[in-house]
Amino acid sequence: MASGFWHGLWRTKPVDAIVRESGHGEGGGLRRSMGLIQLTFFSVGATLGTGIFVVMGEATPLAGPAVVLAFLLSAVTALFSALSYAELAGTIPVSGSSYSYTYATMGELVAWVCGWCLLLEYGVSVSAVAVGWGQYLNDFLDKAFGFTIPEAWSQAPDKGGVLNLTAVLVVAAMTLVLLRGATESARVNTFMVFFKIVLLLFFCAVAFTGFQSGNLEPFLPLGVAGVSAAGAQVFFSYIGFDAASTAGEEAKNPRRDLPLAIVLSLAVVTALYVLVALASVGAMPWQDLDDDTEASLSAILSDVTGEAWPSLLLSAGAVVAITSVVLTVLYGQTRILFAMSRDGLIPSIFQRVAPKYSVPAANTIIVGVFVSVLAALVPLNHLTDATSIGTLFAFALVNASVIILRRTRPDLPRSFRAPLYPVTPVLGVFFCLYVMRGLRPVTWLVFGLWILGGLAVYLAYSRRHSRLRRGRELSDAR
Ligand code: ALA
Repeated sequence: MASGFWHGLWRTKPVDAIVRESGHGEGGGLRRSMGLIQLTFFSVGATLGTGIFVVMGEATPLAGPAVVLAFLLSAVTALFSALSYAELAGTIPVSGSSYSYTYATMGELVAWVCGWCLLLEYGVSVSAVAVGWGQYLNDFLDKAFGFTIPEAWSQAPDKGGVLNLTAVLVVAAMTLVLLRGATESARVNTFMVFFKIVLLLFFCAVAFTGFQSGNLEPFLPLGVAGVSAAGAQVFFSYIGFDAASTAGEEAKNPRRDLPLAIVLSLAVVTALYVLVALASVGAMPWQDLDDDTEASLSAILSDVTGEAWPSLLLSAGAVVAITSVVLTVLYGQTRILFAMSRDGLIPSIFQRVAPKYSVPAANTIIVGVFVSVLAALVPLNHLTDATSIGTLFAFALVNASVIILRRTRPDLPRSFRAPLYPVTPVLGVFFCLYVMRGLRPVTWLVFGLWILGGLAVYLAYSRRHSRLRRGRELSDAR
């Protein structure tokens, strides 16, 4: 009995079964409508947002001009994991992302923990992003019309607010777009992503006109420890490159396009981040950026030009840019829950597809409400750190999954193979743990409690309802 319980926890779901079941939920399937460009824009859409527009300003005081190195450090961490994601997305092209990969390699319990961490990567991160969105909205309203939404309704309680209604507004609006279907959502997203890339290039062009090499000296005022602390914080800005892996069942040619989209999107955002960080610390003495500088990129442009319009344009643009993160990350969360529900680990309402638009409608609404509540009440830096720790843990599992799957199923067709195997996934695990180490003790505490909560839910509900377990019991009984 006890040994049955123990074995059940580690039972893996065969890759062939995962792929066979893909695309279907209660009420019908998802529709395959996304090509390579849309998938790449999808990942870029989920990635470029509050991290560069807001968190960079908060991380700069930790490292000084070397915040540029912090972005590179995080990019390397992300790169190893991106290669692992690319390999697995090409091998198991479904919508559950790392949750599905760990189910195939490390068994149900680890998959559950991974899915639980993905709630931090997706659900909690959207809340953080929505909070950052509110900062730019207020900055824009202030510059354009001379008024701002009162603090009570635009700030988290730690900064004098009652409810962050601006954050709720953007989440509600994007939930409505998602309910219209994946094709519509991808179209809206493609427009927004194009816009935000142009916007960041515009920022660099203006900021470089005020570049003073003296601002970069000394380059490492707070030492290597400063870089690693800042690296842990800006890691947030890379989260999302894996979003295409949640669209496996809505991609037209997932085996070819998912790996490419993941790697391409990481390349695009890394180039932009390094440029923006360099332009920022070159244009303004790093000591002038502190924790209270809101809408930091806009503040830099005002400083450099002494004029109002560039920063007005940037704030308006940031509002659009960050909106696309909210859209894509909300989408990712719904699709991961869809996969978990299909496996019976969470209630079946999450896999019910509304036939008219081929979307999991109830799932989308529940996620929208959950995210709104968090965004309304919790401070930004707590949200971003919780997101990072959960994501890094999930990434470490993905790197390990690549190694396990190469050993257990060397025969599977792989449309992309991580180069220099096994060096890349091993370094991937190592870097994830290294960056996790830089996070604050309180973040670790929250993470520990989160995992314990997840285990409790698993034992109380998911284990009993697992389709894999019930399927095995039936076949054993026969
Ligand atoms: N990487 C996403 C952002 O920076 C979460 O907004």
